[in-house]
Order: sequence, then structure tokens, then C-alpha cells
Amino acid sequence: MSQKPDLKVDIAGLELQNPVLTASGTFGYAREYEQLVDLNRLGGIIVKGLSLQPAKGNPPPRIYETPCGMLNAIGLENVGIEAFVAEKLPFLQTLKPPIIVNIYGKREEDYVQLAARIEEVGAIAAIEVNISCPNVKAGGMAFGVDPQAAFSVIRAVRKQTTKLLIVKLSPNVTDITAIARAVEEAGADGLSLINTLTAMAIDSNTRRPRLANITGGLSGPAIKPIALRMVWQVAQATAVPIIGIGGIMSAEDALEFFIAGATAIQVGTANFVNPQATTDIIDGIEKFLIEKNIAKITDVIGTLET
Ligand SMILES: Cc1cc2nc3c(=O)[nH]c(=O)nc-3n(C[C@H](O)[C@H](O)[C@H](O)COP(=O)(O)O)c2cc1C
Repeated sequence: MSQKPDLKVDIAGLELQNPVLTASGTFGYAREYEQLVDLNRLGGIIVKGLSLQPAKGNPPPRIYETPCGMLNAIGLENVGIEAFVAEKLPFLQTLKPPIIVNIYGKREEDYVQLAARIEEVGAIAAIEVNISCPNVKAGGMAFGVDPQAAFSVIRAVRKQTTKLLIVKLSPNVTDITAIARAVEEAGADGLSLINTLTAMAIDSNTRRPRLANITGGLSGPAIKPIALRMVWQVAQATAVPIIGIGGIMSAEDALEFFIAGATAIQVGTANFVNPQATTDIIDGIEKFLIEKNIAKITDVIGTLET
């Protein structure tokens, strides 16, 4: 094939130059990676989860490496929405890729206020709503594990924003398609999945947990088969575009997600192992398409043969 393959994808009207985005919480506010990665090559940049107020997160230790993955209990440390807009966004808006802001809250009203504030900020292309957080009003059960709570919070956010609304699903459920359908009905334009799996590790000598928070979220290659299964299931159950996440370390991993039905993917833990994982994956996808004589990445999406 003489021409370069077309890597462009469309997420409910948001055109990305390629389908590779950074996963929230693993790429800071992007400037941290400025010296290491050509940020303008990314398909999109998703920043660390933001809350209304700045948050310190959990006490250390907050990270523990496990076989084929890592546990984290950062506790959503972030600068807060106002400092983000004032201090982080001016740099981000000089970049070519669209900026997607990940948000979280402990009450439905927190999400509503965040969405209303973001609606006023032109430089933000889309909102990714993390519904894995404990809903303090509902006794601490995460919004994302109950279809009704998930529907309610996303419907409330939808009323506040005309921007592209992506909902990030938690894998800590029995049937992820029930949550996916609920948030689609509530007005989500797209779904990203998966967030981390609740897990733990223990030091047998001290009999103490490895993380101060006791439990944490498992990410990395260990979770990829679960993420892939969930993306495939959600692709059957909904009509909105899916962004696949979970243990994607290489272009081959990314291609599995496209074949399962994802329109785009996010790279998380891999950034800690290889800061250039994102651009390596973009190069690898292009190489695959050339080798297979496929003109565009969209020809690969949802092509699983069973
Ligand atoms: C250190 C760390 C911090 C994270 N912070 C957030 C966050 O703020 N918001 C969010 O929605 N997901 C967060 N995540 C989850 C990732 O975005 C991603 O969904 C998950 O790690 C699975 O992808 P991976 O296996 O490629 O890392 C975090 C993950 C890690 C490892």
C-alpha cells in the first residue's frame, strides 16, 4: 500500500487524529510528560480526575507492584477544578489533541457543579465521568455499581452540558452491561471501560496490608483479559462508541480491543513502564495496518469472528 493508513476515529462527533488516548491518573496534566513524549501526536489527552475542591488523596504507601500489574490507592489526589482551569489548562490548550477532563464526586451535586463549570470552559472538548467513587449519600456504595444511581447521576450531568459526555465504567460489578445500558439511556455519548479492579496485597512478615488504604485498584496487563471481555460484552449491548482501557502495553493489545468493538483506547499503567508507550502504540497500529493492507483503523473495529 503506497498511502499511509488512516488512523482517524470519531467519538460521537469528536474527531481524533488517532485512537490512542492517555488514561486518567497515569499522565498527570500532560506537562509532566512534555520532555518524554511528543504530546501533539496523541489522539486525545485525559487528565487526572478532578473534584470541586483540591484533594490530598490517601496517606502512603499508595502504590504496590504486583505480578503483571500494580495496585494503587492514590485516593484521587488533584488540584481541583479551579486551579486546573487557571494553572494547567493554559498549557494544555496549546496542544493539538483534544483535552478531556475526568471528573469525580461524592454526591450527585458535586458532579452537577463540575459539569456546569466545565461547560463554561471552551478549551475542554469532553467530560469523562468517573462513577467508581463512593456515593456518600447512599452509604458509600459506588455510583457505578448500581444501575439506578448511575442513571441518576449521568442524567443530572447531561442536563448541565452540551459537551461530549463519556462515562467511565467500573469493572467491580456482576453485569457491566446493565450499568452501560443505564448510562446510555441517561444520555452518555460514549463509554470508557474499565477502571481498576478492587484488590489487595499483604506483607506476610508484618501481616500488614501493602497499601495504607488496605485495598486498592489493580491495573496493568493482569486485567487486560477482563477488560477485553467487558468491552466485547458492552459493544454487544449498547450503540454508543466505546473507549477500551485495561492493561494495554502494546499495539497488539490495542488491536485486540478494536477487534472486540472499541473505537479508541486509553493507555494507563504502560506510561509508568515506558513513557513513550502511547506513541509506540500509534506507530505499531500504523505498521499493522500497512502489513495487513488495511486502509483505515475503522475497518478493524468490531471485527471479531466467532
Ligand atoms: C496511579 C493511577 C491513578 C489513577 N487515577 C485515576 C483517576 O483519577 N480517575 C480515573 O477515572 N481513573 C484513574 N485510574 C484508572 C486508569 O485511568 C485506568 O482506568 C486503569 O488503570 C486501567 O488501565 P491500565 O491497566 O492501562 O492502567 C488510575 C490508575 C492508576 C494506575
